[in-house]
Amino acid sequence: MVTPTPYHLLSPRTIVTKIISMKQQEPEPPKIILQPRHRTSPAMWCAAIVCFAFSVLLILVGLVILIVFLTVKPRTPSFDVAHAALNSVYIGSPPPYFNGDMTLTANISNPNHKIGVVIHSGAIELFFRGRLVSAQALPSFAQRRGQFTVLNVHMLSSQVVLPPEVAVELLNQMKSNKILYTIRGTFKVRERFWSWHYTYRMTAICDLELTAPPSGFLVDRRCTTST
Ligand SMILES: *[C@@H]1O[C@H](CO)[C@@H](O)[C@H](O)[C@H]1NC(C)=O
Repeated sequence: MVTPTPYHLLSPRTIVTKIISMKQQEPEPPKIILQPRHRTSPAMWCAAIVCFAFSVLLILVGLVILIVFLTVKPRTPSFDVAHAALNSVYIGSPPPYFNGDMTLTANISNPNHKIGVVIHSGAIELFFRGRLVSAQALPSFAQRRGQFTVLNVHMLSSQVVLPPEVAVELLNQMKSNKILYTIRGTFKVRERFWSWHYTYRMTAICDLELTAPPSGFLVDRRCTTST
């Protein structure tokens, strides 16, 4: 066995030569490990970046809408019948037809504390036992936050043909001094905050109970609104 000469006994030149020869013996690291297995194309990178940016944007937009809704809390306008007067009901024959005259006071209010609304394309229809007996268009109007608008609507019915059993029912209700009508109000509501506005349809249904004409008054009403 040849024991290698200790380094301190070698000349500097020999040491350098030794080190260089050791370095050359070192195996080259395999190239494959240093390089990615396959290159991602620039187009793929681009698509990934666009996708990521879009997701972030979507989340931000969602958050902004959520925050706006939580601070503004949009609510639909409310519809109520404050007064109603049944001035006349006349049933003629034959065939049974109906003439009627009713005035009602509708109260439409904007319960929003932060949003003004515009109410347009409004109409009120009057039904007896599901039969349309009168209809009126409403004017358009704007409401500031928390404002209410009172509208007097004259519902006239002229020569409306009724099925005989419905006419009999109306005569019976007049005798018992308890007339049941239904009104339906339909509107388009435009809400606006900042520069953003949107429009939706709103329907109000009210069941009315009135006393008999000529001075019939509103005894009870129950209104529900839906969008
Ligand atoms: C209309 O409705 C608003 C809010 O519901 C109420 O404050 C107001 O007194 C009503 N006005 C009439 C005339 O009924």
